[in-house]
Amino acid sequence: MKKLLLASLRKPYHKTRKMSSNPTETLKKDAVLDHLLRPASLEEYIGQRRIKQNLEILLRAAKERSHPPEHLLFYGPPGLGKTTLANLVARELGVAIKTTSGPAIEKVGDLASIVTNLSPGDVLFIDEIHRLSKTVEEMLYPAMESGKLDIILGKGPSARIIQLELAPFTLVAATTRVALLSAPLRSRFSGGVFRLEFYTLEETKQIIKRSAQILGVSLPEDACEEIAIRSRFTPRTANYLLKRCRDFAQVAKEPLGKDTVKKALSLLEIDERGLSALDRQILHSIIEKYHGGPVGISTIAASLSEERSTIEEVNEPYLIQLGFLERTSRGRVATDAAYKHLGLKVPEDRQERLL
Ligand code: ADE
Repeated sequence: MKKLLLASLRKPYHKTRKMSSNPTETLKKDAVLDHLLRPASLEEYIGQRRIKQNLEILLRAAKERSHPPEHLLFYGPPGLGKTTLANLVARELGVAIKTTSGPAIEKVGDLASIVTNLSPGDVLFIDEIHRLSKTVEEMLYPAMESGKLDIILGKGPSARIIQLELAPFTLVAATTRVALLSAPLRSRFSGGVFRLEFYTLEETKQIIKRSAQILGVSLPEDACEEIAIRSRFTPRTANYLLKRCRDFAQVAKEPLGKDTVKKALSLLEIDERGLSALDRQILHSIIEKYHGGPVGISTIAASLSEERSTIEEVNEPYLIQLGFLERTSRGRVATDAAYKHLGLKVPEDRQERLL
């Protein structure tokens, strides 16, 4: 029993939404809780102030004109609130949202069936839009631009194109890899292309306090700050850590204070700056196997038997934000700050080797 609990506490936090080997009951409960913790309106949404201000104007203008707003793209590291914002756009407009993702739309027929089933004004949310195939992407262009869908019937010389008129809709798309979007696709998000930033310490604390209140957990200020600092300034992670700390306190029969938070988070292998075991392995690999870099991302991924995309999308943005990693034209480089954080001595010939 104890082992099972520990295993559930150790679940890698960046994977909590999509993958788990935990009992389904725990997962279901977590999903319900996650839903509860999401802000129910733009007003309740903490942080991303510039994006909120832009959205408020865009949505208000659209409502006054009784016309769906133009298409929107949100990009940035996972867990910062892209999906939440997409849902809030629909909620503020008082319309339905249909949710799908790039990899789920395999064939043009999949896209056709989704867009032809939209009601006037609906929001279509496509997550991971960078994973759309080229053919599906090209079919999306006229749908986004003029609300038309070109469908090719048959093959060869007898093939015909029929054009379907779609109900007016707003496409809201999200991606962790905006650089992979083609220029023609990007340019069609005429409502705005918004980059989500990491949250400030204060904003993260506010989010944690709000979540603790919803969960009915009493959380002292210093314990809240400890979770915030170790949360990568990412709401999804902050909420995940709060729930796991709550579990730990319950099982250990301890009040949820700073010491308990520290014990719970060290069991999860999250250090004082919020680095996960994988974050640290990446830095160790660059420093110990490749003399601090520069080294190619594929080489790092292979050395750790990890997906290159996970490292690029999940780990790198935060390591770069902390100033522990640099992306150079010759590859990734661990900074002096990374050596210090890991308690390693910066080699004396390091600067010369980087030249
Ligand atoms: N829960 C998760 N993200 C949030 C945010 N940005 N504001 C309020 N609550 C949240």
